[in-house]
Amino acid sequence: MGNVSIHMLSKLVVVLLLFHLVVANFVDTLQQPSCHAEESSALLQFKESFMIDKSASSNDGAYPKVSSWKPAGGGNSSCCSWDGVECDEMTGHVIGLNLSSSYLYGSFDSNSSLFSLVHLQRLSLSDNNFNYSQIPSSIRNFPSLTHLDLSASFFSGQVPSEVSHLSKLTYLDLCCNIREIETSPDDPQRLLKLQPSDMRSLVQNLTSLETLSLSFVNISSIIPVSLTNLSFLTSLTVKKCDLFGEFPVRIFNLQNLKVLSVRYNQDLTGYLPEFNRSSPLILLKVAFTSFFGTIPSSIEKLNSLQELDVAQWNFSNSLVPSALGNLRQLTSLDISASRFGGPIPDSLANLTQLTVFRVSTSSLTGTIPSWLGNFSKLVYLDFAFNRLIGSIPASFSNLKNLEILYLQSNNLSGVVEFRMFQKLQNLYQLQLNLNNLEFVTESNIIMNATLPQFSILGLNLCNVREFPSFLRYQTNLERLDLSRNKIHGQVPNWMWNISKETLMFLDISDNFISDELPVFIPWVNLQWLRLSFNTFHGRLPIPPPSLLEYGATNNKFTGEISPLLCNMSSLQFLDVSKNNLSGMLPQCLGNFSDGLILLLLGSNSFHGMMPQSYNNKCSLRMIDVSHNQLRGQLPKSLANCVMLEYLVLSNNQFSDVFPIWLGTLPQLKLLAMRHNGFNGVIGQSRTNVDFPQLRILDLSYNNFTGEIPPLFPDIAVNMSTSILEQVYHVVSSLYYPGSYNPTRNISYSITIKGLDLHYSKIQEGFAAIDISSNKFEGKIPEFIGNLKELRSLNISSNILTGSIPSSLGNLRNLESLDLSQNKLSGQIPQQLTMLTFLGNFDVSHNTLTGPIPQGTQLTSLNSTSYEGNPGLCGDPLPKCGNQEAPQPPPSTEEDSDSGSARTLEID
Ligand SMILES: *[C@@H]1O[C@H](CO)[C@@H](O)[C@H](O)[C@H]1NC(C)=O
Ligand SMILES: *[C@@H]1O[C@H](CO)[C@@H](O)[C@H](O)[C@H]1NC(C)=O
Ligand SMILES: *[C@@H]1O[C@H](CO)[C@@H](O)[C@H](O)[C@H]1NC(C)=O
Ligand SMILES: *[C@@H]1O[C@H](CO)[C@@H](O)[C@H](O)[C@H]1NC(C)=O
Ligand SMILES: *[C@@H]1O[C@H](CO)[C@@H](O)[C@H](O)[C@H]1NC(C)=O
Ligand SMILES: *[C@@H]1O[C@H](CO)[C@@H](O)[C@H](O)[C@H]1NC(C)=O
Ligand SMILES: *[C@@H]1O[C@H](CO)[C@@H](O)[C@H](O)[C@H]1NC(C)=O
Ligand SMILES: *[C@@H]1O[C@H](CO)[C@@H](O)[C@H](O)[C@H]1NC(C)=O
Repeated sequence: MGNVSIHMLSKLVVVLLLFHLVVANFVDTLQQPSCHAEESSALLQFKESFMIDKSASSNDGAYPKVSSWKPAGGGNSSCCSWDGVECDEMTGHVIGLNLSSSYLYGSFDSNSSLFSLVHLQRLSLSDNNFNYSQIPSSIRNFPSLTHLDLSASFFSGQVPSEVSHLSKLTYLDLCCNIREIETSPDDPQRLLKLQPSDMRSLVQNLTSLETLSLSFVNISSIIPVSLTNLSFLTSLTVKKCDLFGEFPVRIFNLQNLKVLSVRYNQDLTGYLPEFNRSSPLILLKVAFTSFFGTIPSSIEKLNSLQELDVAQWNFSNSLVPSALGNLRQLTSLDISASRFGGPIPDSLANLTQLTVFRVSTSSLTGTIPSWLGNFSKLVYLDFAFNRLIGSIPASFSNLKNLEILYLQSNNLSGVVEFRMFQKLQNLYQLQLNLNNLEFVTESNIIMNATLPQFSILGLNLCNVREFPSFLRYQTNLERLDLSRNKIHGQVPNWMWNISKETLMFLDISDNFISDELPVFIPWVNLQWLRLSFNTFHGRLPIPPPSLLEYGATNNKFTGEISPLLCNMSSLQFLDVSKNNLSGMLPQCLGNFSDGLILLLLGSNSFHGMMPQSYNNKCSLRMIDVSHNQLRGQLPKSLANCVMLEYLVLSNNQFSDVFPIWLGTLPQLKLLAMRHNGFNGVIGQSRTNVDFPQLRILDLSYNNFTGEIPPLFPDIAVNMSTSILEQVYHVVSSLYYPGSYNPTRNISYSITIKGLDLHYSKIQEGFAAIDISSNKFEGKIPEFIGNLKELRSLNISSNILTGSIPSSLGNLRNLESLDLSQNKLSGQIPQQLTMLTFLGNFDVSHNTLTGPIPQGTQLTSLNSTSYEGNPGLCGDPLPKCGNQEAPQPPPSTEEDSDSGSARTLEID
């Protein structure tokens, strides 16, 4: 009954209003209500306090509404007819002001004349630029306000508590006051903050709220339970507010709720309840939270639901819930990264309204259903990073509205003809990387007018045999990945003319391309250029100054590095190793080092000096100049490169004393100087030799003399990530997301008895010393027994004397120990039998005597490990005469005493 009478009453009001309008118009000949002079002047003052600046608004329909506001002559004021101004028909007071998207720029003061418009009921100022003003607390002057929209207007600071006094508000939107940050476009800075106590007052006091949008306001609070009392609420959007704690499940029961978005509140927990009745929910977005539990099959009761985004949950459903197939109204479904496995259920075949369908990064198995070809409205389809098998259904050629198709990283197979996509005029992102597909382009290509224009095309590992001819007509490519294919021969000439302004990423590495490249790379905005693992020859091409990554390793480039490369001021990663490059290195490789992180020049024929003068902004983390003909001394300014982790100088003709000054580098983990002319006594010029992080030291094949210095890794680190991987993570954060790891072919070989062991990933816990083939003399220092992380120790081919310290038995991780070709004497200590991981052991060609400790892995070794020691006996050598029983080990006390004495001497 109540409803009926309200209904009749409202009809009556409408009739009365109409009557009033008719009468008013009759009397006043279609006049607007007349405006109060002081309100008119307040509005004009308000207008004057801002500039009109087109960059202040970003909506398409934006225009300067206040431009039409003019002081009226003739003693009357017509502000009620001004654009964006609404007056009360009876009283003439301004009750509505809509200046959304009006190009307003300037700061908004608390004493603004606007606040004299005390009758205001509706205020919309969204999409302007108030230049980081605070929301004025004078907002309290508007007690009748029902509608307040301050979204996307560069308001900043604390939201004043006065907002929660506006108890008539039905609509409050403070969303999207953010500043975009160039370096992290996906994570803008949030400008507004709301005190947790103000959040509580807000939901307690504003009991008439229908729409509440606080997205991107930093709230850092729990969601007050009293929010569940807002029974008129139809829309609640709190994306990225740092809300935490338990999401009050009763919010799902709000009778009128149509829109609920709580995405990107990582610490907000909660679950989806059973839905017992139909509900008006149209949009439900709970992705990137800590919600858990299952998607209940009762979700099918939400028969109005159009958008469902629950990506990145820890769901305990193991299969994609087939009940989702009953949500016939769905236009957008995202259940990515939510641990779902199993096949895509056939029940979803009824979701023909979908425009967005994402189930990436899960464990989907089975084939891609061909009924997807009936989803004619589909715009965005993403099944990337799953375990799907079979072929791409031919029915996909029906998806006329498709714009984005991501199928990378599955186990898909079969031939994919480009023809399938040719009619998909809107397709601009296609990712087929990392499957077992064979992507073929018919040779009789097709009118370009009918081709899709791609911006992203990922055909990495797609058995492509030639540059696809349709590329010729691509004018908008930003990212093109053709790496790891079977492309032979030359780069077609037309390639150099495609997408000249737009291309940012080009990866054609890992093919069989054999070609000479143009002197200048033509893409003016290119940032990533990957040519590695082909047989390119001729000069290294010169890329544009925008380049960040230049990967050209494993080719046959010849000639010098042009000094023009020094113009690449953005360069962070340069890998031209394993080519036939020659000449001197441009000096700029040292001093344009702002930003350069990886410098890999190994295995070429460079001669002359290392680039000199690294300045104190040096950010290099890896330098590899090994296998060249560099000579002379190392530049001392390398000590400015405090980020340096990996320095490989091996196989050159450097001639210098040991660079003890590198010991100040706090991150240096690997120092390799093998096969050079380094010489002299190490460690006499400094008292404090640090090298705090050194894990791998290779000084072999040089001319070092004197005693073995204490510069060795001795810290226990239990992290298991590889050093290279760590560097890669830093580097990759700068990289366009891709499947390529720029450090993947960087490795380090440790020589064990002529055998190059190849460590492609140097584990953090790994430590190795190789000082073989020098002229070190004196005893093996006792401190080596403290280097408990050592996996490999090679001190062969020196002139070491004395006995083998029993403390070497402490090196429980040791896998290889080579003491051969020295002048060591005495017995093999019994303690070495404790080295249970030892796979390689060599004490040959010394003057050791006595029995080999019996009954352990030491006796199972090849006798060549012991040969050349006339006094040694016992298995695997011939039996000892009367010394059959092992001798007691030499006193360890004595050994450690002498060891520490030696350490002190060096200090
Ligand atoms: C008020 O101003 C409007 C135009 O600004 C004019 O059309 C109207 O005649 C004026 N009314 C009076 C009463 O002066
Ligand atoms: C305000 O004006 C814009 C057009 O500039 C319009 O799109 C919007 O719906 C209006 N807002 C209100 C609350 O009337
Ligand atoms: C508001 O206050 C500022 C100083 O805080 C002053 O510059 C400005 O003129 C005042 N505006 C009005 C409209 O009174
Ligand atoms: C609620 O609003 C009234 C004014 O309308 C104010 O006096 C009161 O402090 C507010 N309550 C809270 C909890 O903010
Ligand atoms: C699609 O809906 C129809 C009609 O309700 C139903 O008969 C059919 O079983 C559904 N299809 C699937 C695959 O669930
Ligand atoms: C193909 O595209 C190019 C450049 O977009 C244009 O110049 C040419 O006329 C087009 N050819 C056909 C056959 O449409
Ligand atoms: C090492 O020193 C010896 C003489 O001291 C010299 O003949 C030899 O060339 C040096 N080796 C290197 C690699 O510099
Ligand atoms: C020991 O090593 C040598 C050289 O590597 C090899 O020729 C010989 O066969 C090995 N002997 C045994 C018993 O394995």
